[in-house]
Amino acid sequence: MNYALIMCGGSGSRFWPKSRKAYPKQFLKPLGPHTMIQSTFSRISNLIPVENIYVVTNNNYVDIIRQQLPDLIEDNIILEPMQKETATCIGYSAVKLLKKDPEAVMIVLPSDHHIEDEKEFISTLQQALLIAENNKALITIGVKPTRPETAYGYIQVGKKIDGHWPIDTHKVKRFTEKPNKEKAIEFIKDGRYLWNSGIFIWKASYLLKQYKKHLPDMYESMKRIRDGLGTDEEESIIEGEYRKIEGISIDYGVLEKSKDVYVIKCNFKWDDIGNWTAMERYMEKDEWGNQVKGKFIHMDSRDCIICGENRLIAAIGVNDLIVVDTEDVLLLCRRERDQDIKELLNRLSEHV
Ligand code: GDD
Ligand code: MG
Repeated sequence: MNYALIMCGGSGSRFWPKSRKAYPKQFLKPLGPHTMIQSTFSRISNLIPVENIYVVTNNNYVDIIRQQLPDLIEDNIILEPMQKETATCIGYSAVKLLKKDPEAVMIVLPSDHHIEDEKEFISTLQQALLIAENNKALITIGVKPTRPETAYGYIQVGKKIDGHWPIDTHKVKRFTEKPNKEKAIEFIKDGRYLWNSGIFIWKASYLLKQYKKHLPDMYESMKRIRDGLGTDEEESIIEGEYRKIEGISIDYGVLEKSKDVYVIKCNFKWDDIGNWTAMERYMEKDEWGNQVKGKFIHMDSRDCIICGENRLIAAIGVNDLIVVDTEDVLLLCRRERDQDIKELLNRLSEHV
């Protein structure tokens, strides 16, 4: 059977200080009436019945999830004892699904994407499911890149698959997660690359075979977790294994290494509102190039992103700044340094 797994345990740090560890960006509404997780859930429920939609998260977020997703079935919340990145949350969820259904095919979805043209989204996934059901394939949805973004994975598109696959699908020649700026510029110039959307489709059993090859320690942990499921020690086994696991993302852990990755290019509008400069694609500019939420007054200030809450923000003669004002934190950041917010947070233990 087909299942959706929504990953909802990240802390959205590059959107700090609006996105906070206690209330990360997937629970916010940067672009509309619904939060990002609510949009993700309602979008996928047009394809996968609610009984088969799972959310993997940790204790910090479970109450917010219950409150924001009243239709999510309580038993379909997969609780991780701690954050160990996406390879871990996907592997653990695959083990849980396989216990229920050895033929499980999973659609893995981030909880913090902006997607338009839902019909196209659904039809692409439908066809990807057909491929994943019948083939040894790790499928990712690729997006035509528009700028040398360093926050994404890049897919070098290889040869087209001949045969009876229901949708144009290409072998992935090389997968490069989060390249540096020079590499990203090179990839864009080359023209053969797509961005990795972070949406994946595969058979749970086949994915775990890939862990055995590429993440053998994690695979062993997953086997011990599988054997512990349903026993009295279940909780302590999961916690013990999670402590031991070296966290890694699915992109670095599996996709960069595997020879069995395929890509389907999407025809729907996709965006990861991952950082502050992403907002420039969605906020209107005034005649000075400033993009403003909240109350802002300025003299001779250009090309700033201003996001206030209650206080008036006033500026004189500043350019290219990101200013985010919240009740307890004021962020001032040069626009081109917004990827460094993550690093700043690594140095901060309070106010996160
Ligand atoms: N349950 C759980 N546990 N969820 C997690 C964890 C975890 O430890 N870590 C991250 N997540 C969730 C996040 O909440 C998000 O919904 C999703 O997994 C992806 O994590 P991100 O941290 O946002 O990944 P990224 O944006 O840096 O990179 C990924 O997405 C890009 C596109 O948005 C990669 O797949 C890139 O290759 C891709 O281009
Ligand atoms: Mg992301």
